Amino acid sequence: MPEPTGTAAKGSILLTGATGFIGRRIQDRLIAEGWHLRVLARSASARAEFLNPRAEQVDGSLADAGALARGVAGSVAVINCAGTVRGSSFEDFMPANVTGVRGLCEAIERQSAPPALLHLSSLAAEAPEISDYARSKREGERVLAGFDTLNWTVLRPPAVYGPGDTEMRSALALARRGLVPVPGGDRSQRLSMLHVDDLAGAVLAWLRSPSAHLHHVYAIDDGKSDGYDWSEFAAAVRGTEKGRPLFLPLPTTLLNSFAWLNERIAGLTGRAIMLSRGKVRELTRSRWVATDNEAFGRISGWTPEIRLAEGVSGLFES
Ligand SMILES: NC(=O)c1ccc[n+]([C@@H]2O[C@H](COP(=O)([O-])OP(=O)(O)OC[C@H]3O[C@@H](n4cnc5c(N)ncnc54)[C@H](OP(=O)(O)O)[C@@H]3O)[C@@H](O)[C@H]2O)c1
Repeated sequence: MPEPTGTAAKGSILLTGATGFIGRRIQDRLIAEGWHLRVLARSASARAEFLNPRAEQVDGSLADAGALARGVAGSVAVINCAGTVRGSSFEDFMPANVTGVRGLCEAIERQSAPPALLHLSSLAAEAPEISDYARSKREGERVLAGFDTLNWTVLRPPAVYGPGDTEMRSALALARRGLVPVPGGDRSQRLSMLHVDDLAGAVLAWLRSPSAHLHHVYAIDDGKSDGYDWSEFAAAVRGTEKGRPLFLPLPTTLLNSFAWLNERIAGLTGRAIMLSRGKVRELTRSRWVATDNEAFGRISGWTPEIRLAEGVSGLFES
């Protein structure tokens, strides 16, 4: 199995999901670090403008065996950042999050020197019963586990925020103005967070020695021990000097009503939705806390550098 080494020997990497919020940040960091980058991207992507012109595009999806074969050929590593995060049924999530992982592993397995694979799962995979999304991310990991001859590693990020994010930005903007909506109303809920640039840093750290992480699954975060409760979240996002925030409890029944309506509309229009009843269960779970920074850092040398206060100011003040 080839191991990516120092700068002079830098080879080709295949990245999937490069048009997405997280993938595009990883894409730019890899190119800046001198890797030859190949991206598997669908020409029909509405976000094709985010592809870096210095990346070599392989046109296709995770369902396209030919494109996958072209993408992995000669690569020293594969970073799977493609995934479906919106949907209202398991079938919506399955093609990218489960079947796509299998297709990618099969393409890698067919190589005479199979590249190492870093797969972006989600902290949600620790509770597959909670939603179709969480189940699909866990199923994707189970698919990987079936390829035990491959050199794979899984990262399970928690909520990721940063430039280019569209899901968390409005909640962060509201909290900065002093209004903090609390899904389910439980302010003692604990959540880990991670800035997208620290996640990109973790990918680069993994690339230094993928084999050292063989078959490891790491849930990583921004280094805030035991995550944030809502008061800590508000203090970090708003700053303590700006006065007390107003916490706005969002009752689960209300969220479920919106989610139910959303699901009906999605059923009629085919639109992919974020707020489903499964998402409500995710949003109101009492803890989503990552615990593997030390294990990952010990091997890779990675440490997160951007705390929530700093990351959020950078987002709104730049
Ligand atoms: N954002 C978070 O807070 C977070 C937290 C934990 C884990 N994750 C995981 O991180 C990954 C990326 O998330 P994100 O927030 O960046 O999502 P995103 O912005 O929706 O981007 C998803 C990417 O995957 C691509 N994609 C989706 N289905 C595909 C398919 N069948 N074949 C090829 N490409 C496909 C999309 O391409 P198109 O442009 O063509 O649609 C896009 O590039 C996902 O696996 C997600 O589960 C995200």
